[in-house]
Amino acid sequence: MRSIGGALRLVAALLVLGSAAAAAAQALLDFSAEERAAIARHGPWPQPWAGDPSNRVSMRPAAIELGRLLFFDPRLSANGAVACATCHRPDRGWADGLPVSTGLARGDRNAPGLANVRLQRWFGWDGAQDSLWAQSLRPLLDAREMGATRRGVAAHLRGEPELSCRYRAAFGAPPGDDDEEVFVDAGKALAAFQSTIASVPAAFDVFRDALAAGDATAADYPLAAQRGLRLFIGRGQCSLCHFGPAFTNGEFADIGVPFFTGPGSVDSGRHGGIRRLQSSPYSLLGRFSDARDPAVRQATELVAFTHRNFGEFRVPGLRELLRTAPFMHDGSLPDLHAVVRRYSTLDEDRLHADGERILRRLDLSDAEIDDVVAFLGTLTAADSPQPAPPSDEACR
Ligand code: HEC
Ligand code: HEC
Repeated sequence: MRSIGGALRLVAALLVLGSAAAAAAQALLDFSAEERAAIARHGPWPQPWAGDPSNRVSMRPAAIELGRLLFFDPRLSANGAVACATCHRPDRGWADGLPVSTGLARGDRNAPGLANVRLQRWFGWDGAQDSLWAQSLRPLLDAREMGATRRGVAAHLRGEPELSCRYRAAFGAPPGDDDEEVFVDAGKALAAFQSTIASVPAAFDVFRDALAAGDATAADYPLAAQRGLRLFIGRGQCSLCHFGPAFTNGEFADIGVPFFTGPGSVDSGRHGGIRRLQSSPYSLLGRFSDARDPAVRQATELVAFTHRNFGEFRVPGLRELLRTAPFMHDGSLPDLHAVVRRYSTLDEDRLHADGERILRRLDLSDAEIDDVVAFLGTLTAADSPQPAPPSDEACR
């Protein structure tokens, strides 16, 4: 009899232990009110979006369809083999998985993923473009990417029945005689399509909403991610630059990624980007912007050329990182551990000029590095970012 009682007690004890283990796996750190507010600022997700005022076809379904055809069309390139989708692959978070992209020739920058690109103010690692449509024109003309000409793109749109039909549906008239206007419109259709590529909510978003609502399911968010998040918004100061729902403040910073691209050549980042922005015929200050409200031009008007911009690159958003390795403007870091280790062992003397006063060498332990990596992983949703579903209506 005693032995049965003993066995029952043992089973009871095991049950208690088991539920304690379950409780440990499902727990919530004691986030302070300040931490909770900082976490809430990284949402909600998705973010509302009301179209691009500088692009009159920005939300038109017909323009989205035209943009989709152009995005996947290699015939736009000089050798007929390079499409936007060559370097922005839907199955790789709309990036290409390579350190630096190769189109007609090898470039020197990493292709960013395109999910949520509609939320940006500046485009390219150096912000040389101030609209998504202007950014979409750049690779067409770049000799290392697609090597096309304005005339060639316009002729393609006029000559292909399906494209010219879609063009008419999107812009209200068939492509006209002015090559540059048709070329710019192609950029606007491409922008309309890319604006539909958005991330769906990820594990972090579910946690953020549950925490804000005081919902017990917040404890389902893995503890390692909770600890990593605490470092991200706290001691790591990551949130100061990787701010808000898209995890970027949209601005430029120098975090000491080397900017030498080869013997005697440098990538000056934002420094060169400002020069290119100011000389571009396609900036919001030029005649191709459809915006009537002068406020749309303001950010571009206020850009000033200063030496401190040398070596600064755009703060990237951090959603979809599990799909878009390698990282940094030059693709020099292969994975997230390498990125977090770099912040941990940062050489403060490498930050040039007046440097980034925010950044400090963090000296994280290996376990802390794992935690930050675990947190960053929860910003990637299970389902990959999709564009608007294609229309099945034929154009005639
Ligand atoms: C040869 C590879 C390649 C091709 C082809 C290519 N891109 Fe890119 N894309 C890149 C690289 C590299 C960058 C970063 C460029 C920079 O920083 O100047 C980029 C940047 C972008 C960005 C800015 C993203 C951001 O976060 O700022 C957009 C938008 C974009 N490309 C759209 C397109 C479109 C549209 C096409 C087709 C017309 C296209 N790309 C063709 C490699 C490519
Ligand atoms: C001073 C602003 C700043 C702070 C603070 C900062 N970052 Fe960054 N981060 C950047 C910039 C700028 C880049 C791109 C640099 C480049 O490509 O040269 C970047 C790149 C990254 C990338 C690579 C993303 C990609 O798509 O290539 C990750 C991941 C990242 N940061 C995470 C973090 C984490 C984690 C922290 C905190 C430990 C942090 N950052 C702190 C500005 C900052």
